[in-house]
Formats: sequence, C-alpha cells, structure tokens
Amino acid sequence: MTESTPGGLENLLSEDRRFAPSPEFSAQANAQHDLYAWADANREAFWADQARELLTWSTPFTQVLDWSDAPFAKWFADGRLNAAYNAVDRHVEAGRGDRVALHFEGEAGDTRTITYADLQREVARAANALVALGVGTGDRVAIYLPLIPEAVVTMLACARIGAPHSVVFGGFSAEALYSRILDAEAKLVVTADGGFRRGAPSALKPAVDEALAKGETTVQHVLVVRRTGQDVAWTDGRDVWWSDVVDTASDEHEPVEVDAEHPLFILYTSGTTGKPKGIFHTTGGYLTQSAYTHLNVFDLKPETDVYWCTADIGWITGHSYVVYGPLINGATQVIYEGTPDTPHKGRWWEIVQKYGVTILYTAPTAIRTCMKWGEDIPAQFDLSSLRVLGSVGEPINPEAWMWYRRVIGGDSAPIVDTWWQTETGAIMISPLPGVTATKPGSAQVALPGIAAEVVDDDAQAVPDGAGGYLVLTAPWPAMLRGIWGDPERYKDTYWSRFRGLYFAGDGAKKDGDGDIWLLGRVDDVMNVSGHRLSTTEIESALVSHPWVAEAAVVGASDETTGQAVVAFVILRGDAGVGDRSADDVQTELRNHVAKEIGPIAKPRQILVVAELPKTRSGKIMRRLLRDVAEHRQVGDATTLADSSVMDLIAQGLATPA
Ligand code: WT7
Repeated sequence: MTESTPGGLENLLSEDRRFAPSPEFSAQANAQHDLYAWADANREAFWADQARELLTWSTPFTQVLDWSDAPFAKWFADGRLNAAYNAVDRHVEAGRGDRVALHFEGEAGDTRTITYADLQREVARAANALVALGVGTGDRVAIYLPLIPEAVVTMLACARIGAPHSVVFGGFSAEALYSRILDAEAKLVVTADGGFRRGAPSALKPAVDEALAKGETTVQHVLVVRRTGQDVAWTDGRDVWWSDVVDTASDEHEPVEVDAEHPLFILYTSGTTGKPKGIFHTTGGYLTQSAYTHLNVFDLKPETDVYWCTADIGWITGHSYVVYGPLINGATQVIYEGTPDTPHKGRWWEIVQKYGVTILYTAPTAIRTCMKWGEDIPAQFDLSSLRVLGSVGEPINPEAWMWYRRVIGGDSAPIVDTWWQTETGAIMISPLPGVTATKPGSAQVALPGIAAEVVDDDAQAVPDGAGGYLVLTAPWPAMLRGIWGDPERYKDTYWSRFRGLYFAGDGAKKDGDGDIWLLGRVDDVMNVSGHRLSTTEIESALVSHPWVAEAAVVGASDETTGQAVVAFVILRGDAGVGDRSADDVQTELRNHVAKEIGPIAKPRQILVVAELPKTRSGKIMRRLLRDVAEHRQVGDATTLADSSVMDLIAQGLATPA
C-alpha cells in the first residue's frame, strides 16, 4: 500500500468543508447533473454522441468501441478525420476566422495576437514546408521548442499531414532528446535558436546538435525557428531556417484525412524502469475526450471566455489543454513563454488582468510557490474576471486549495481538481464545476463516461472509508493505444497487476461519501512539481558517473514541489574523488544528472553513504531511505539482509563527510 502520503492527506479525509457552486453558476453551466445519467445509460452511445457533436468527420464512423483485442482499444475505427482541420479550419469556415485563437505573451513582454484565420494560414504554410522537407504521412517529427506560437503551429502542421509528433520538453538534455529521437525514429527535428527563460536567452539548438552528433539517426533535417537571435552552429544541407521554408511556403494546404486510429502523437514519460515510455495516442478518441473534458470541466464558453493553461507543450497537459482541447472547441487562450517571477513575482496575475482571463488551469506546485511569495502580490491585480480554476499534476493540499479559492478565485470561482495521466490522454476524475459540491484536496468523482474504482490487493472494490489502488474499469476514448514499439511493456505495465483493469500506479482512498482522494504513486515514480520522474532513471544517471558505485533515489515530500529527489550514493574508493568536499561531490553529481536527463531531474540532496539498505533478495528498501530523507524515525527494518545498515547511514549523516 502507499508507504507515505504526500501532504499528509491521510489526516485530511476528515475534511468536512464543502463548496457548492452558486445557483447562478449552476444555472449557466455546460454540464448539468443529467450528464451522469446520460453516460450511465449507455457509455458507448454517450461517447459516440460526444464524438459526433464535438468533431467534424470527413467519413462518419459506424463502429464505436472495439475491445476485441483488449487491452488494445479501437474507438470510432471506421471513421476518418483530420485533427488540424477540426482545431482550426472548420472554425474559419464557420465564419469565426476573426476570433483570437492565441494571445501570445513572450517573457520579455513581446506579444502576438493570432486569430483562427491567421492560425490556418500559418499551419498550412508549415504543413507545406514539412512536406517539402520530405515528411510524409506516418513519419515522426521531434519537436524541441519553447512555448512560442510556432510550437502550436508545428504540432498542428504535423497533425495536418498525419505525421505523429513527439514533443520533447525544452528542459530535457541532449542525451534525453537523442534517446527519444532514436526510439521514435524521427525524420525531422523542429527547434529554435533558444527561448527566453528568467530574463535571458536560453539556447536550444546546441542540444539538438549535440544529440545528433551522438550517433546515426534517421533525422534528415533540422528546422530552426529564430526566437532569441543567438548565434547558432549550422550544418549545411541538414539545417534550415523556418523563415526560409515556412514563411515562404503557400498558405493553401489540403488536410490529410486519416483513420480515427491513426497515431496523432507520441509523448515520452517516466516509468518504473530506466527507459522512458513512448506513450502514443491516436486521433478520433483522443480528440473527442480532450474536447469533451475541456468543454465540461472548465465550463468553456468559446465566445466569451479567455482561457489560460500554464503548462508547457512538452507535457501532456500542454497537448490536451493548450493545443487540442481548446482549439477543437474554438477557444480564445493565452500562452506565456516565461517563468512566473520574471521580471516580477506578479507576472501571472498581471497577465490575468491584462487579458481578462476567465479560466485558469495550473499546478499545485505553482499555487504553493505563489502562497510563499505572499498574497499581497496577487492583491495588486484585478483578478475578478476569473470564474473557474483548475488544478492538475499532483494532489493539492487543502491549504493550497483554500488559498487558491480565496486569494485567486475571490472566494467564488469553483475549483476543479483534475486527476489524469499522460496515459489517460484527458481528464478522468474531477468535479463538474456547476454540479459538484467541492472538497478541498479531493478530485472526487469519475467524469460522466469514465469508470474508476479503488481496489485492494485482490482487485476487490474497497468500501467507503478505505484505501487501495486506483484502477479504471472500462476503456475510455482518449486512452493510450500502447507504448511505441513495445506492446508487451504496455500489457505488463498497466494490465497485468489486476486482470482486466487498468492500473494507474496511484494509491487512493474513498471517503465516507465515496469520493476519491488521490494519495500519490505506489510505484517507483516520483512527482516533482507535477512532473514525472523515475527513481531508476536517475539512479542509472548517477551510476553512469565514474565516481559512483551504487545509487538509490527516493522522492521525499517537499513543501513546494510536492516531492523532491533525494539520492543516496556509494562512491567508488578508487575513482579519483580524492579529498573533494561533500559539497563538491554533490555539485558534480547534480550537474551530471542535469546533463544526462535535464535540470528538472537534479536531486535536491545527494547523501554519500557506505551501504544501502537491501532485502535478502537484493531489492533496495526505498521506504527506509524515504524515512531518512524526510527526517522520520526509520520504520520496520526487519526484512533487511543486514540490519545494521540503517544505523550506519544514520551515523554517517550525523557526521559530515
Ligand atoms: C500522475 C500522472 C495529468 C497531467 C499532468 C501529470 C499525478 C495528476 C493529479 C491530481 C493527484 C495527480 C498522479 C498521476 N496526478 N493529477 N489532480 N491529483 N495526483 O501527468 O506526468 O502523466 O503524471 O500525476 O500520480 O499518476 P503525468
């Protein structure tokens, strides 16, 4: 069962505060209570209705769910459509071309306003350029860009020609980029000279050059957006400027019609082993559920709302709730390139005020950071436009939830705490803002059309008030279709733990009302600032350094980031560490992890130890290390092969290395 519960959620199951939506909000809400009954009456028919209502199909489907090859699902399989046409062109054709699609705010304060008609021309140009660079339907394109309009344009251009994109977060290292390019066999990489980060240009192109120098790849061209004006190294014949090939291309392009089950994108995420998993999503089902959830969970009114999701496109949230969901629904949204405290700690709230943002979707770690900075900062801005607030990425502790509601939401905007995963593609468990009386800290209920349960070790549903593992008990349209190139790993990871049930990897409890509380991961996956990191992946990065003999990594609870990476390492006696101080060793190893994976994976702390606690079968007992990292009394150590190890570690930590 869960060994520790982030934010001490266990104590909070006695939470008795309830926040019902106001009658005015409920009356105008897109989703009413009867949505549950509609979905319950016939789940598949419900999804078919959503798919017909929310999307434009070039060939209508007649089949809904095909589960005959479970756990490999097919939804709407005989239908055909194009994702970019649905996200852009049809809005223009319907006379809404003048509506703003993107209000872009650069970190330095530069702005661009892009209407749906502008977006259509840009995407068509980019699609023509991709084709001219040799990218065809089915070819993979790696995208390594900052959050600038070209990132959205590139994703849609790929979708327009049926070339699955693989977005790699700009914070990942050359090494991480290289392994993702190899795994997906990408034909093209789209990048920029750099982006703006904390008031300065931050280069991206050198990481692409470094990645492609590591060995043979299938990459034929690198398409480079000029963003910062930094000098870049250039490989003639391979590298091409966006301004040369996209800006000059024709703005007429016929979207390529694809099957509903055509892969739309691959997105790599951390699992329990060292090798990241290429989660892949297909077109019809994914678009249906991302649009449906965006419309109902955020109560989107496309004519009047200004929506802002603060996620980067390098994560699934950016795919489903910056690109596909909002654009399919014809929303007007803000995208912001930079950090929340550049050039000042009120930047986000200034943006809310400037654009009159009505719906804000962000992560608990950001809310806790703003809490730390003090409520006098948001108080300097007019936030009265906000009417729905969303949270995603990790459990939100009730203190942060209450602060979010009071300080940002003016004590009235409903908060939707949305649980989902890269694998689920779209929101699965969340209140409906006009229906649910919300509880601080709980994601509460499966959405209409979704079936979730909390089960015990024997796959039996637990009674209200008890805890267990979160599972999904029926296939859903946006579910992953597999792990790229590794169908066995897909079955093993998600479908082997409980027969016929999707195992999410999260611990959960049902409270007395049957509402679901998420309690954090039960596997070797950590959640740092809402980003998934694998303990094993960081351990392999550490042992790839010549000084390190062995490493164990744990996620220790952290006030701001939810969890933080803490590493325990055994150094090699003979590897030239010499008389370097513990600080120097720590700095060197932290930088090494940043180079291998990316700065987000840097351990908060690296502790040098003489031994690691292992069971008789050699498995590292991370639970005990987590106790140490969280400064707790060390728990039951009786299954250790050598029970004195924990004493040794405790002694070692007490005496500076
Ligand atoms: C893991 C998935 C979904 C987009 C962002 C993260 C945790 C996510 C919540 C929430 C409690 C949450 C889970 C999940 N998680 N949302 N509202 N409450 N936990 O996507 O990187 O695929 O991570 O994030 O542990 O399994 P991801």
